[in-house]
Amino acid sequence: PFINGKEMLQHAYKNGYGVGAFSAHNAETILGILEAAEEEQAPIMIQVGQKVIQTLGMESMKALIDIYAKQFAIPVAIHLDHSRSFDQTMQAVQLGFQSVMFDGSARSFEENSQITHDVVQVAKALHIGSEGEIGKIGGTEDDISVDEKDALITTTEEAVAFTEATDVDYLAVSIGTAHGLYKQTPNLRFERLDAISKAVQRPVVLHGGSDVPDEQVQKAIQLGVAKINVDTELRQAFTNGVKATFKQDPDEIVLANSLGNGKEYLKKKVQEKIQVFGSNGKA
Ligand code: 13P
Ligand code: ZN
Ligand code: NA
Repeated sequence: PFINGKEMLQHAYKNGYGVGAFSAHNAETILGILEAAEEEQAPIMIQVGQKVIQTLGMESMKALIDIYAKQFAIPVAIHLDHSRSFDQTMQAVQLGFQSVMFDGSARSFEENSQITHDVVQVAKALHIGSEGEIGKIGGTEDDISVDEKDALITTTEEAVAFTEATDVDYLAVSIGTAHGLYKQTPNLRFERLDAISKAVQRPVVLHGGSDVPDEQVQKAIQLGVAKINVDTELRQAFTNGVKATFKQDPDEIVLANSLGNGKEYLKKKVQEKIQVFGSNGKA
């Protein structure tokens, strides 16, 4: 069944485990995520991100996830990832998403707080979970130096001010994390995470979950992270599955075979992540 993202994450936060928020890109990735969660008996979030909104559309992705998720008994929340506009966030609310993220991290503090506040008001009234972001999460293509990277780390002060201004349900922060694969093993800023988490008293969201060593993710969960976003590693696994099919038979043209093998590889990766996050058996 579908459940409010806030409820899902409150349970994880209070019980010391993390919910995997897995990005979906097509029918096979949706099914792979759901099958993995069912086998692990884990609550999950399925994320609809900006790339797939551009290509397949938000409404079609929502409809597709709805149809598949109904066939599974585990708790699911459909989440809008990294929305950069109030209007797009409202579109997701109207479509019945159980959780939405407004990402105003590229805007001024004032603007980010104001728009996030407005999103949170609507979301609360409709019993939908809301996520906001303070600080800037790096991207591997950004090619920025370590010093510059330091400037992106969320400060405790801005996290507190943002949370007070918005009353957002869960907070995405930048603690040495980046989207995509890391050039070198990341060292998450646990002291900062601990300070932020204690100060804001609500679930923290870890973006850029791919390629972070398991022990670091687990430590972050102990310090208050309740939602871990994973995209790149799943796309990588899916692609490897498709490649393996073509390696065996370069002339394979049954898409159900190549895409189906991609789904199997992705499913295994999702199961691994769920076990690392400790959400297995929590459905
Ligand atoms: P990765 O691609 O590093 O897993 O990050 C995913 C993410 O944060 C989506 O919002
Ligand atoms: Zn992200
Ligand atoms: Na990453």
